[in-house]
Amino acid sequence: MSKMTEQKGRPNIIGYWMSEKKRQKLNWTEFGTTCKRHGFDLVKLDLTRSLEDQGPFCVILHKLTDIIVLAGQGDKKAEAMVQRVESYLDAHPEVAVIDPLDNVRKLLDRFHSYSISLRSGVDSLDAFTPNFVELLSEDVEDNLRRLKEAGVTFPFVCKPSVAHGSSRAHKMCLIFNERGVRDCQPPCVAQSFINHNAILYKIYVVGDRQHIVERPSLKNFYPCDRDTIFYDSHDVSKADSQSALSVLDPEDAATVPQPPPPDPERLRAVVDALRSKLGLALLGVDVVVENCSGRIAIIDINAYPGYDGFPNFFESLMTCILGAVESHRTDMPDAVLSNGSDSFSSGPGSSACSKTSSSTSSPGDQDDSGFDTGGDSSDEKKKKWGRRLRGSGGFAAVAGK
Ligand SMILES: Nc1ncnc2c1ncn2[C@@H]1O[C@H](COP(=O)(O)OP(=O)(O)O)[C@@H](O)[C@H]1O
Ligand SMILES: [Mg+2]
Repeated sequence: MSKMTEQKGRPNIIGYWMSEKKRQKLNWTEFGTTCKRHGFDLVKLDLTRSLEDQGPFCVILHKLTDIIVLAGQGDKKAEAMVQRVESYLDAHPEVAVIDPLDNVRKLLDRFHSYSISLRSGVDSLDAFTPNFVELLSEDVEDNLRRLKEAGVTFPFVCKPSVAHGSSRAHKMCLIFNERGVRDCQPPCVAQSFINHNAILYKIYVVGDRQHIVERPSLKNFYPCDRDTIFYDSHDVSKADSQSALSVLDPEDAATVPQPPPPDPERLRAVVDALRSKLGLALLGVDVVVENCSGRIAIIDINAYPGYDGFPNFFESLMTCILGAVESHRTDMPDAVLSNGSDSFSSGPGSSACSKTSSSTSSPGDQDDSGFDTGGDSSDEKKKKWGRRLRGSGGFAAVAGK
């Protein structure tokens, strides 16, 4: 039995929310059994009413990406759902959260997440973010100028700015020449296409644990006079995708050497750098290995990904939760402890998620996620917790653009 269960008075209840579809896909009932084994109850949050009488919780775990996007687009029901979670967390700073909503918001807009990736300092690891630019107008001349200024080269992928919330978020196109620029549908992000011999690597992250899976991807493409190719990413890079767009051209198959798979340790270092910038415990990173250089290109970052094939996912998630609860408690200033929930008391535990899930950041502050502020001084603690206590409003929901 976990040491955690020995603690008297601690609310050993994990409150969670995810869509019914996601719940079934993950076979979530089994996670309830894992939680029980560790002395925790797992309770689904009812976001149609206040969370006050549904707890007390020690941690909130959520997959609210689509709901946050809808809320940013003005959907009243979604707004109310997000509001209930945020109000509860604001009123209960003693409750840990995986992951902080403001940190999840950083990944809902592709331009925003690529900007963070660009500043994550992964160059020293021979990794990079392909050149990208946000396109907000349909003015072709203006877009051509912006593409040039940002160093985006042909061919490039044009992706909807909003990365979640509807099937439209995954409808992309590949543009080969100036003529194709009229096919950009704003708001979108244009990103240089990186030739990678049609192999994508997905890195799934649960706290300190990572798992790499190989997936099909787009074949090599070169600048040319052809028409724009429209595609849905779901048809290309799922485990069972069999798109014609993934079949290498015969010349490439014969002449382009296959770059070796990325070194897992290097990948881990790249992902750790991103994780630290983002302040997230649960994330997925898509990378490709550039044919000509062997460098790792970061092409997509997602909050709470699918975790298909992640070994012992539920045990890893449990370790992450235990770590988050403990590190949250350790991080808490005394004022929060004494003002917080009566039922919360101290206790030991592991620290697999370390600072990740207790971090917060100022809205839109990409350079200071609050994640890597290990060994907080009491002033730093006050600042951080002050933010949490004041709430997290003010971030112009990127999804609303
Ligand atoms: N910059 C890029 N270079 C090469 N291929 C890319 C690039 N961006 C996206 N792709 C291809 O498009 C697919 C979907 O792109 P991604 O950004 O991962 O979108 P989604 O959010 O729908 O997963 C990738 O799996 C990959 O095959
Ligand atoms: Mg992807």
